[in-house]
Amino acid sequence: MKNLPKIETKRLLLRDLSLKDAGQMYEYTSNPIVSKYLLWNPHLDLEETKEAIVSYKNNDSMMQWAITLKKTEILIGVGGFGIINSQMRKGDLGYSFNPKYWNKGYATEMTKALVNYGFNELNLVRIQGVIHVNNIPSAKVLEKSGLAFEAILKNWMLINKKPVDTKIYSIVKK
Ligand SMILES: CC(C)(COP(=O)(O)OP(=O)(O)OC[C@H]1O[C@@H](n2cnc3c(N)ncnc32)[C@H](O)[C@@H]1OP(=O)(O)O)[C@@H](O)C(=O)NCCC(=O)NCCS
Repeated sequence: MKNLPKIETKRLLLRDLSLKDAGQMYEYTSNPIVSKYLLWNPHLDLEETKEAIVSYKNNDSMMQWAITLKKTEILIGVGGFGIINSQMRKGDLGYSFNPKYWNKGYATEMTKALVNYGFNELNLVRIQGVIHVNNIPSAKVLEKSGLAFEAILKNWMLINKKPVDTKIYSIVKK
């Protein structure tokens, strides 16, 4: 989706992603550690990252923000809703961060802000996260952001043609 609004947290500014971010994004989208549990493979060149940015922006059911540090304006990751289902008023969280900035609470800070934005601004009734069954850091992010474990979804996705189990977490509007 194009022209996303800014969202501020204590340490982060979530802002519209643009092609100018491709370099900082490629720094981590090219790292196999980052995509280990994801549906995409490490990007092989900058062009692939640029294509990903364009596809995010052209997809009206996707909202992916540039996640930047307020103090330095450095881009540390990209995150938001991988899918917004407007008819069902449901959002699916999706994010990836540069390993240089892992384990500092940034993904949790972002996810809490997205949950707030999803319920209050997008009028969603359910926000969910579907993650590879072994993705412990992502499970922690979802739990710390108030989402609750619901179920294991067997053979839910294919990663490099191999079926893998996922865990689904959710939070619903009260
Ligand atoms: C998942 C991801 C976004 C988390 O980002 P982050 O900014 O490091 O997350 P946070 O710092 O908010 O929280 C991570 C938590 O996982 C914990 N953690 C990290 N590695 C762990 C491990 N191997 N075992 C147990 N806990 C672990 C951290 O200690 C932290 O928990 P704590 O705050 O209770 O100490 C990041 O690891 C990432 O980009 N991974 C690759 C992409 C990805 O998997 N995205 C998720 C798609 S569903």
